[in-house]
Amino acid sequence: MNDSEKYDDIDIRVEDPVTFPLGTPDDDVIKALQKAWARQDLNTYVEKRWTGAYVPPFPDTFWEYDWRACDIGSGFGRFGWVESQKHPTRAYLSIDKGKRRGGGMLRRYEEKDVPNVFPLHGNAIPILANMPHASLNLITLFYPNPWWPKKHQKKRWSYHPLLPHLFDLLVPGGCLMLCANERFYLQEWLWTLQHHPAAHCMKEEYVGPIQVSEGRSDFEVKFIHHNVSCGEIRFRKE
Ligand SMILES: C[S@@+](CC[C@H](N)C(=O)[O-])C[C@H]1O[C@@H](n2cnc3c(N)ncnc32)[C@H](O)[C@@H]1O
Repeated sequence: MNDSEKYDDIDIRVEDPVTFPLGTPDDDVIKALQKAWARQDLNTYVEKRWTGAYVPPFPDTFWEYDWRACDIGSGFGRFGWVESQKHPTRAYLSIDKGKRRGGGMLRRYEEKDVPNVFPLHGNAIPILANMPHASLNLITLFYPNPWWPKKHQKKRWSYHPLLPHLFDLLVPGGCLMLCANERFYLQEWLWTLQHHPAAHCMKEEYVGPIQVSEGRSDFEVKFIHHNVSCGEIRFRKE
C-alpha cells in the first residue's frame, strides 16, 4: 500500500464531526430503526439475497484457536495484521468485500506467512450468517461506510438483518467494538445497542473518543494524521 492510498483526502470528508455526549437520535431515526428491526429475518434475507452468490472458502484452521476475532469490513487489514503478530495464540479473521481494499489485504498478508491471520476477500454477510453461535471473542467494525443519504440508511449496520446474529456470534464476555468519525453514526449505533430487542445480553463498556495515538486500522491512521475526531463504542456480552 502506498501513502496516497492511506491519505486519500476524499475518504476523510466528515459531515458530522464526533463530539460527546452523543445524545439521542431524532424521532424519525428511532422510528426507522424500529421499523427495520421489526421486519428483520436473517434466514429469509440470506436466502433471498445470497443464494448462489460467491462465498470464499472458510479456513478450517481458524477453529483450531481458542480465542478468535473478526474484523468486518477490514479494508487493507491492518488490525488483523498487527494484532495477529502481537498475539500468536489468537486467530484473526479479516473480511473485506472491496476489490481494491480486499485485494490489497490479500497481497499484504501474502508478504509474510503469519499462520493466525485469516483474510477473506468477500462479503461478510453470508460468511458470518453461516458461522455458528459463540464463535468469536471479538468483533470489530472500524469506520464502516456511513451511507449518508437517507435512502441508503438501511445499509448501515444498525438497520441490518445481520446485526442480531453478531450478538449471537460472541462468546459470553466477548466484545463488540465499533469506531466511527461521524457523530450521527455513533449516536445511532449506541441507541441501537441500548434498545435493540436482541441486544439485552450486551453491556455497555465504553463510549467516548478513541484512546489510541497509533491507528489500528488504515482509516484510523489517516484520521489521526488529519486530526479528525473519532469515537469508539464497546459493548461486552454478558
Ligand atoms: C470505510 S472502509 C474502512 C476500512 C477499514 N475498516 C479501516 O478502518 O481502514 C469500509 C470498508 O468496509 C468494507 N465493507 C462494507 N460492507 C462490507 C461487507 N458487507 N462485507 C465485507 N466488507 C464490507 C468496504 O469494502 C470497505 O473497505
